[in-house]
Amino acid sequence: AHQALVDPFGRVIEDLRISITDRCNFRCTYCMPEEGMKWLHRSEVMSFEEIERLARIFVERYGVRGIRLTGGEPTVRAHLPVLVRKLAALENQHGAIDLSMTTNGATMRLVAEGLREAGLKRVNISLDTLIAEKFHQMTRRDELTNVLDGIVASQEAGFERVKINAVIERGVNDDEIVDLATYGREQNVEVRFIEFMPLDATGHWLNDKVVGQDEIVEAISAVYPIEQMPARGAAPADRFRYLDGDGTSPGSMIGIIPTVTKPFCGDCDRVRLTAEGDFRTCLFATDEFDLLTALRAGETDDQIAARIEAAVATKWAGHQINQVNFIRPGKSMSQIGG
Ligand code: GTP
Ligand code: 5AD
Ligand code: SF4
Repeated sequence: AHQALVDPFGRVIEDLRISITDRCNFRCTYCMPEEGMKWLHRSEVMSFEEIERLARIFVERYGVRGIRLTGGEPTVRAHLPVLVRKLAALENQHGAIDLSMTTNGATMRLVAEGLREAGLKRVNISLDTLIAEKFHQMTRRDELTNVLDGIVASQEAGFERVKINAVIERGVNDDEIVDLATYGREQNVEVRFIEFMPLDATGHWLNDKVVGQDEIVEAISAVYPIEQMPARGAAPADRFRYLDGDGTSPGSMIGIIPTVTKPFCGDCDRVRLTAEGDFRTCLFATDEFDLLTALRAGETDDQIAARIEAAVATKWAGHQINQVNFIRPGKSMSQIGG
């Protein structure tokens, strides 16, 4: 029997995001500087066995149903299918784990099949632009073709779901909202538009650069009429369906992740582990709880669980991006995992 992990606001934690590396083969401007970050030393990063041990506590003790692997870029980690196999084997009273990964897609044409066979169920792939030069400008890499091929390969590998993540930044790619929507319709894939969040490493985020959900809806519906779908539950994305679509196929719907203009913290069911094994109760948290050091010091599952519960007791009601006293977390997106 499990014990629910409930925060002070009554939210039940059911989703764990695990960053498995801080490194990345891209340098997206909304995330990292050109020169990259100061990378963690290998020994500071959780081993597969350590990841499995912590994940098991969340799954078996607290009934966590979903695990998402993030980075940096998770596919740069060697032998990734070995980890996927370990996590896919976890089960609880809810049944098998909804095991997913967020990736930049650059190598998916090479690894999709192996990851699906190892038990990965879903992938979300970043694609912010369909123009090669702009792709280079935004990611500082010339990989558009590889990413597009990676998306197709992921669809062909037979994952339960493949979604596209597009971060929209005003003056950079906001002119491509409709083109990205068209791509999703033609490619039969769900595109999610993401409001730019203040987690870039260079600190160039400004409220003016956020293209809000209402503006995205307006741009798309001028060309393709859409209506909002009900009940998004704890997922960060609000979903909309095209009026001319079947309402069930991936290409007949879009998502919008409206962190800044329509915060969804009230429904949050997520917690996070960074690659160095620090536990975070919010994307924007300024405090972390070092579980890896505790684990390496030989603490028992009960002792680690007590740390997790104490941390969850500090989870905020929500982020404060729109307040004057907002404090950016000391870590940027690639160091947290998104
Ligand atoms: P699904 O399970 O497919 O819905 O995945 P997801 O949207 O939860 O995960 P993904 O890694 O694809 O993230 C898409 C965007 O949502 C990224 O920009 C994340 O940083 C953001 N995101 C994910 N979880 C949260 C959250 O709890 N709060 C906020 N503000 N943003 C989040
Ligand atoms: N704002 C919003 N989303 C971001 N991502 C990375 N940096 C930011 C940011 N500053 C997205 C990536 C990926 C996910 C992990 O987070 O595009 O889809
Ligand atoms: Fe949850 Fe924090 Fe994201 Fe709000 S900003 S949804 S509280 S992780």
